[in-house]
Parts: sequence; C-alpha cells; structure tokens
Amino acid sequence: MPFAHITGWGMHVPELILTNDDISKLVDTNDEWIRDHTGIRERRIAREHEFPSTLGVEAALKALQVANLAPTELDLIICTSSSPEYFFPATACLIQDQIGATKAGAFDLQAACTGFIFSMNMAAQAIRSGSIKSALVVGTETLSRFVDWKDRNTCILFGDGAGAFVLQASDKPGGVISAVMHSDGSGADALILPGGGTRFPATEATIHEGKHFIQMDGKEVFRFATRVMGQAVLEALEPAKLTLDDIQWIVPHQANFRIIKTAAKYLKMSLDKFIINVDRYGNTSTASIPIAAVDALQKGQIKPGDKIVLVGFGAGLTWGAMVVEWTGPIPAKKHIRTEPYRLFARLRSLLRRIWRRIEGFLSSKEV
Ligand code: UT7
Repeated sequence: MPFAHITGWGMHVPELILTNDDISKLVDTNDEWIRDHTGIRERRIAREHEFPSTLGVEAALKALQVANLAPTELDLIICTSSSPEYFFPATACLIQDQIGATKAGAFDLQAACTGFIFSMNMAAQAIRSGSIKSALVVGTETLSRFVDWKDRNTCILFGDGAGAFVLQASDKPGGVISAVMHSDGSGADALILPGGGTRFPATEATIHEGKHFIQMDGKEVFRFATRVMGQAVLEALEPAKLTLDDIQWIVPHQANFRIIKTAAKYLKMSLDKFIINVDRYGNTSTASIPIAAVDALQKGQIKPGDKIVLVGFGAGLTWGAMVVEWTGPIPAKKHIRTEPYRLFARLRSLLRRIWRRIEGFLSSKEV
C-alpha cells in the first residue's frame, strides 16, 4: 500500500492589512481588548479583485513549485472553503482551470474551519488506496465578505488568505499516518451563515435581517473548542501508536490564542511546541492550518523527519486531527517552473470557451 507524503506547500495572503486600531474605528472595541481576548493584532483583507480562487491559485502554484510537480500531473484537487466563490461550480474547478491541471478531478469539501483536516484525510486515503498518485488540497478564504462590520463579536476575528499542500504517493514509509474526523450537527446554530442557502434564499427580507452575515455564539464555540482540541490530538495519536513525547510540533487551527493555550494546558505540553501565528493573520478558517504550517516551514521550525499533529475545529460542529511524519519534496531530476503553466492554462481556458461556442453553433445547425 503506498504512503501519502506531503511534498509541497504554499500560502498566499492579500497585501491589505487591517489592524485592531482600524477595527476600533468601525465598532466599539480596542486593540487591548482584542489582543487580550484573542491574541490577534492584525488580519489580511481581500481587495475587490481577490477571490478564493485567485488566492488559492497563488498558494497552489507555490505548493506545486516546492513539490516539483507540474499541474498537468495532478490527479485530484480538493478545495475547502467557508467562503466559496459560488454555491456552484466548485471553487476547486476554478482553481483547476486557472492552474491548468488538465487531468485532475476537482471538487469542494465543506467542513468549515475543520475542512483542511477532512480534505487532507480524503486525499491521503485516495492515495493510500492506490486509486490516485497525487493530490492538491487548498484551503482558501475571503470570509471578510461575510463579516458584519457592525458586529464586534465576529468582525475582530476573521481574516482572508489561502494555504495549499501537495500530496504524493511513495513506497517509502511516512507522510499522513492517521486521522480522526468528528461532527455534531446539534451544535449547528453556534456558528452559522444562515442566508443564501435553500432554507433562506436571498430576498430583501433576509438581507435586511442580516442573514447573509456570520452569526456566532462565541462563548459556546469557545467552550466546545477547548473541550475537543486536546482530545482529538490524543485520539489521532492512538492508531499511530505514538505519544505526545514523539511529537515535535502541533499545528492548531488559528482561531484564538486562548483556545490554543487551553489545549496546551490540557495536553500538559509547552506552548513552544505549538505553531501560532493568529496574531498576524487572525482566523483564516480552512486556510489557517496550512498558513501556520508554511510559516513554520519558512522559519525552519518544521524539518524533515518531524512528527507533527494538525488539529482543527469549527462550524458544523466539526473537529478533527491528523498525525503526519514530515518528509518534504520527493527528490527529482527535473525542475518545474509553474509560471508557464499559469499562462498555458489561461490560453487553454480561452480556447476551450471558444471551441464550446463553435461546437454549440455547429450542433444548432445540425438540429
Ligand atoms: O473557527 C471558529 C471560529 N470561532 C471561534 O473560535 C470563536 C470562539 N470564541 C471566542 O474566541 C471568544 O468567545 C470571543 C473572542 C468571540 C469573545 O471573547 P470572550 O472572552 O468570550 O468575551 P465575552 O463574549 O464573554 O464578552 C466579555 C465582555 C462583554 O462585556 P460585559 O458583558 O462583560 O460588560 C462583551 O460585551 O466583553 C465585551 N465584548 C467586547 N468588548 C470590546 C465582546 N466583544 C468585544 C469586543 N471589544 N470586540
């Protein structure tokens, strides 16, 4: 049975920085309160021309560059987002088109902030089963568009950004070792974007009632998160036959510094073993785990051979954890430059659109 290795990683965040002081001009809050209660100092906000697919494409191409893998070699793309570009088509298909992943199947997976763990597990299982050889997992968000900038309960928390991992099959042991996934829909109301689905399709009334904004019972989510995070880490370690002593790094979902601190206390682990960058990016939902991991890799914290645990929680309610032995890129003779693929993808996409029109015209003549 092949092993599923993480061979590439990339992140991309918008340039625009929104500080706590900036937010204090919008709602009754202040830098000290936000830092004390969340650990967040600033977050990135997408400009009008930035979307989940555009951020996701940048992260994906960087990840493919690290993996030395051409987009055309990808078998599968899973995109996970709490702020997808459309209801349909899947954001994964937009990314597939923009990077020119000509043979990849692409779909979205929705598990809110836990989406990256669930998606990684699905991609790893597909590789372990032998049905595919490579996969791209992208977590990408422009949640700032769903934030009510008059609600101080939520607008202080969220930020935009994208992170991506490439997974590849190899006979060498390592990579994704184990994972656990959990859900409890009885807590659906605790964190919800009620409008725009089939329960509350967009109408003047739903817009007036603010149903298209994130609604959150912060205390409830906080209690849930502190209860499940440590447990999920221990649960994922069990099938891997590992203990916390074997683990070099924990990469938690970056929602709130206090939640991470409580998880560290529960696990009786030093906070130094936790990768934390919530101060700079806020809560980027599905993108927070890969962004934190890429940050740690760039600082030289995570190294090949390290055993790490990714752990997340979010709306649903959902939570999960994954144990990984970090390997890095598979040594390759060729060196891929991903930029030409972006240009090729644009041209290909344009030609396919034109060809579809011609086909439509010709078939209408035949009828
Ligand atoms: O991916 C998952 C996403 N969600 C989460 O992870 C959210 C988890 N929850 C949290 O992170 C925290 O519950 C919050 C950061 C949302 C809130 O922190 P808290 O320590 O639970 O604050 P609180 O709601 O208990 O409010 C404490 C006080 C209240 O005032 P009173 O009633 O004590 O006078 C609030 O009205 O702080 C007030 N408050 C604020 N003050 C200044 C609430 N929000 C703010 C604010 N600025 N932004």
